[in-house]
Amino acid sequence: MKQILMVSSEAVPYIKTGGLADVVGSLPRYINKEEYDVRVMLPKYACMDQRFLPDLQFVCHFYVDLNWRRQYAGVFKAEYQGITYYFIDNEYYFAGNNPYNNIYEDVEKFAYFSKAVLQALPLIDFCPDVIHCNDWQTGLVPVYLRTVFGQDAFYAGMKSLFTIHNMKFQGRWMVREVMDITGLPEEIFTADKLESYGEANYLKGGCVYADAISSVSPSYAMDITTPEGGEGLAGLMYARRNDLYGIVNGIDYEEFNPETDKTMAQNFNLITVSIDKDINKAALQRMMGLPEKEDAFLIGMVSRMTDQKGFDLVAYVMEEMLSTMNIQFVVLGTGEHRFEEMFRYFQSKYPDKISAHIGYSEERAHQIYASCDAFLMPSLFEPCGLSQMMSMRYGTIPIVRETGGLKDTVDAYNEYENTGTGFSFKEYNAHDMMHVIQYANDVYTNHRDKWDALVLRAMTTDYSWNASARKYENLYERLISK
Ligand code: ADP
Ligand code: GLC
Repeated sequence: MKQILMVSSEAVPYIKTGGLADVVGSLPRYINKEEYDVRVMLPKYACMDQRFLPDLQFVCHFYVDLNWRRQYAGVFKAEYQGITYYFIDNEYYFAGNNPYNNIYEDVEKFAYFSKAVLQALPLIDFCPDVIHCNDWQTGLVPVYLRTVFGQDAFYAGMKSLFTIHNMKFQGRWMVREVMDITGLPEEIFTADKLESYGEANYLKGGCVYADAISSVSPSYAMDITTPEGGEGLAGLMYARRNDLYGIVNGIDYEEFNPETDKTMAQNFNLITVSIDKDINKAALQRMMGLPEKEDAFLIGMVSRMTDQKGFDLVAYVMEEMLSTMNIQFVVLGTGEHRFEEMFRYFQSKYPDKISAHIGYSEERAHQIYASCDAFLMPSLFEPCGLSQMMSMRYGTIPIVRETGGLKDTVDAYNEYENTGTGFSFKEYNAHDMMHVIQYANDVYTNHRDKWDALVLRAMTTDYSWNASARKYENLYERLISK
């Protein structure tokens, strides 16, 4: 039995701020259990979902030396849906009501976490063939593995895979301070290793020291090798292109299932969707305080409200769309103040057309995916994106910008050939977005047979982990035999 350790700063169901948690919380279950023993290691945050606390069992404790600091580390363990999760406990580092604070605190917190992960392994008697790291918070795992732990026979055969879920966040801080915090040798803080533009860079460290790198869609894996998408690290990504893989994310087909989802007003399948979708639509309109108009083209958005997600495009044409089209918007999200205020403003001006829930709600997110006609995701960049796949699973047609994973997962509608699973536009331009929304609205309103066929194609395309889990297995094998 081969052993795989996934290391992450978040995972469903324990702690989630974005898609990373969905991925780490579902992929392990889809890896072949006959051949791989996959376990997951996470921080034990004070803000983790409190419902799971009674499941956590204390395993052992030890101390982590970070240069002159000596810090306590407890290890807890829990089983969830057949997967073993370990939690590194330290009440100083993992306090607060968010997993992430300011970058200064975070670089120390995740240096501690990365070292603690490696130190914990012999104590829990788990000797992974591959350590699968995710995003900058775990970037120092491959670095410690090859430097500080490099001489120790226990760690000698371990390989590491570093998965980039978002190139934008790299974990950068002053070289001197990172040297002091991490206790890593001075000679690795050079431009060919941890240093980048005068700063120490955790993501770069992960990419330099890992045996292989992957990102979460083939298009985004290509994008990050170019100056436009590389966020300053394109040169390194290009140099490592032979070890760089693009594997598209899947979604959890059990959690996102229109036939069993308990949050829906009415479950449906491929046969009943044409009738039962409208029952959900009416229920969502009611819940969100919008008039129950069956003919209004209902567009959903569920998202972190940041620049990445294209909200400036939405802001630019919202007035024009609301004042001229027979549409309704339901929006769920939190983030930048200016975007939250933008939705509040339009909601007060057009209460019959837009309803925004500024907040976080799993239940409401499911209801939006299940009940809208279309789902808007005009991202500036998108490593993969899960929301568009969640929507398609419920026959809610995505309208996306052709970038990264959105390009790889949404097949643009072709009215002549009757193909496609959604609508897309290429340039990052508000009116291009608006025109494609108008086009989608036209198909919905005037060519319902074509729309219904689109819904069925979206629902039957496979966005499960089946194909991608095999690709991760192949990658693990490639690393093990390296
Ligand atoms: P990202 O990780 O960049 O935010 P993804 O599309 O990969 O984007 O994943 C976002 C995840 O977070 C999805 O599971 C989505 O449903 C969820 N999500 C985002 N905002 C909210 C919210 N306000 N309430 C509930 N779930 C949300
Ligand atoms: C990041 C990306 C998103 C991706 C998710 C999971 O948050 O922004 O596109 O789907 O990670 O890989």
